[in-house]
Amino acid sequence: MGVGLFLGTGWSPRHPIVVDTQRRGSDVPRAYDGGIRALGAPCRPPLMSLVTFTRNAVSNFKSTAAVAPSSRHLAHAMVEPLRRQGPRVVVEFGPGTGVMTRRLLRVMPPDGVLLAFEISPLFVDYLRTNIDDKRLHIVAARAETAAAELDRRGIDTVNGVVSSLGIGFLDEAAVGAIFQPLLPRFSEEGTLTQFQYVHRIRMAGRRLEYFDAGDMLRRYFESVESNCVWRNLPPANVITCRGARNGGAP
Ligand SMILES: C[S@@+](CC[C@H](N)C(=O)[O-])C[C@H]1O[C@@H](n2cnc3c(N)ncnc32)[C@H](O)[C@@H]1O
Repeated sequence: MGVGLFLGTGWSPRHPIVVDTQRRGSDVPRAYDGGIRALGAPCRPPLMSLVTFTRNAVSNFKSTAAVAPSSRHLAHAMVEPLRRQGPRVVVEFGPGTGVMTRRLLRVMPPDGVLLAFEISPLFVDYLRTNIDDKRLHIVAARAETAAAELDRRGIDTVNGVVSSLGIGFLDEAAVGAIFQPLLPRFSEEGTLTQFQYVHRIRMAGRRLEYFDAGDMLRRYFESVESNCVWRNLPPANVITCRGARNGGAP
């Protein structure tokens, strides 16, 4: 398997892909945990997750924004700021094959609601087949529709938003269209977590430019912190935002 296939994933030669679904020891990726219907079925996660993810990336790289799923270490760091709250309502953007989704379900209470917005039909199908948890609502729609979906479900308050969107591919207007309508809905302790690969480089037309997602998110939140997770390929910064500016961007 080529090195390129590992870009964006936490599986490395030292942490090889394990396909034995019966073992639940410490060497088994956490992706096994959290309502996986296919626990008895051989070779589902994480190998199928990797295959499905790579297939989607090949056909639609710009929206997938990675070639393999995030590592469990990155998923842990993305969910950690929410864990202490015992979050009842969480919105996830871009669940992919569900590495963050599974981690979220582990920290949410039994009456929790997790709305996961995903635009790839391949990933939507994968998630519906592989995660069986009544708290999870997979919404086959763009992140931009989240506020309308919350209204439709009569949900006023969210405890957290976990976003894996390839924010480097989005301009400021697109980021505003996604996050701004959600700002008045954050609970007092509510957090947004977003990751960005450490290189902080993005394409602007035909040239590469430096881009710090934290700077962009500072327009929407009072407090923005960044922590590096090295155990992901490539390593990523987890940006944790608190104190939603309810009026929107200044
Ligand atoms: C970098 S991948 C992250 C997948 C997964 N969370 C992970 O970390 O392995 C980005 C995901 O966002 C999805 N996506 C991209 N644009 C989207 C949008 N506007 N609304 C919802 N999902 C979107 C892609 O299909 C893909 O699943």
